[in-house]
Amino acid sequence: MDRTLLIVKPDAVKKNAIGDIIRRVEERGFVVRDIRMLIQTSEQAGEFYEVHKERPFYNDLVEFMTSGPCVPMVLERDDAVPLLRKVVGATNPEEADEGTIRKAHGANVQNNAVHASDSPENAANEITFYFQ
Ligand code: RTP
Ligand code: MG
Repeated sequence: MDRTLLIVKPDAVKKNAIGDIIRRVEERGFVVRDIRMLIQTSEQAGEFYEVHKERPFYNDLVEFMTSGPCVPMVLERDDAVPLLRKVVGATNPEEADEGTIRKAHGANVQNNAVHASDSPENAANEITFYFQ
């Protein structure tokens, strides 16, 4: 079994979509192994997305991720990392496939409802980041 990290971002928490997002991943065979709710500091959000530090959208992204509570959770199943990325859909909800979480709940390329780890190495680091 593999583990990956899903974050319900502040926009989706505000829309009361936590339950629907968990239903979608559970329906696809993921098991929720840990979960919490927190309001991130700018330091936490900035460190989490440090890979994007030089991108023009970085400051907006940090502001968005600190705009309200978010819900990180550890999800487990075979092939968890690539399969969750498929269930989540493209970064821009307008380009996301029908049936994906971002198609259902994303508003735009920034307010796109969820984060999902993009490699097993990043998944391990991101899980440690929120669940020491
Ligand atoms: P994530 O890390 O959140 O799962 O998203 P991702 O891999 O699909 O996309 P990534 O390139 O890692 O971007 C991280 C997050 O930054 C915001 N973003 N804004 N304004 C923009 O052009 C822009 N591009 C990306 C999104 O919230 C994206 O999920
Ligand atoms: Mg990413």
